[in-house]
Amino acid sequence: MRIGIIGVGHLAMSLLAGLRKAGWPPGEVLLSPRGHGAELAEDHGYALARDNADIVARCDTVLLAVRPAHALAAVTGLGWRDGQVLISACAGVPSAALAGVVAPAAMVRIMPITAAEFGASPTVVWPDHPAAHPFLDAIGSAIPVASEAAFETATVSAAIYGWAQELIARGAEWSMAQGLPEETARQLVARTFTAAGRMQAESPEPMRALLKSLVTPGGITEAGLTHLREAKALDAWDGACDVVLKRLKGA
Ligand SMILES: NC(=O)c1ccc[n+]([C@@H]2O[C@H](COP(=O)([O-])OP(=O)(O)OC[C@H]3O[C@@H](n4cnc5c(N)ncnc54)[C@H](OP(=O)(O)O)[C@@H]3O)[C@@H](O)[C@H]2O)c1
Repeated sequence: MRIGIIGVGHLAMSLLAGLRKAGWPPGEVLLSPRGHGAELAEDHGYALARDNADIVARCDTVLLAVRPAHALAAVTGLGWRDGQVLISACAGVPSAALAGVVAPAAMVRIMPITAAEFGASPTVVWPDHPAAHPFLDAIGSAIPVASEAAFETATVSAAIYGWAQELIARGAEWSMAQGLPEETARQLVARTFTAAGRMQAESPEPMRALLKSLVTPGGITEAGLTHLREAKALDAWDGACDVVLKRLKGA
């Protein structure tokens, strides 16, 4: 399946690395000549479009990954056809802002994360569309949601992905300050987060039951959680989610 990409920047580089890992043929990817397009075409054998209209003329599935403020201009007046699908990764850009100018093409919103480069992006998608699945399956796994409001809420997880990395870095740096070697500290804390994620994603136990099973009364997990609660760190976490959702809704 051929996919065209408008906006070959930081996110698109991760997505393309994921496609290469999944064995997506380079000849089935058509890149915009802007950003990293020309360099990636040269390095990996992708086809290079003349401009955005050329992408729309040659691809039935088009990924949009420009900055939110550039989204409307990037897809306007390109000769969209019935049967095409625009997959927009632009955070906080509602469907209504683009659907009119890309009609009669269908529009799908996605929120991938850069772990796509390892085929590990849990990608929120709304509305779900079969044409998006070969791409979403190549970069990770699709997580469809039922409404655009749910999509905005789910997009907060893309920020949580960054906060989790901040927690990993802090945990590793704290361990290094106590004397652990850097690579040991980094791998230990990072893989502990991966392990925690796998437990919650793969165990059939309810989330809170899993956590309760870890918190031995009087034990070390309980001691640290009590400290975090008393310091209102977990309330601050909820507040950070509220801040991001408000931003996404343009409030
Ligand atoms: N970064 C992430 O981890 C991430 C994750 C999820 C979603 N997103 C979303 O992905 C989008 C892109 O983010 P980014 O971090 O990849 O930004 P970025 O690195 O700035 O890349 C954006 C690219 O879009 C190109 N561009 C701008 N206008 C264009 C146009 N009219 N036609 C063709 N190309 C055009 C720019 O090219 P020039 O350099 O030539 O201007 C630039 O290469 C954003 O909407 C963001 O919300 C990002």
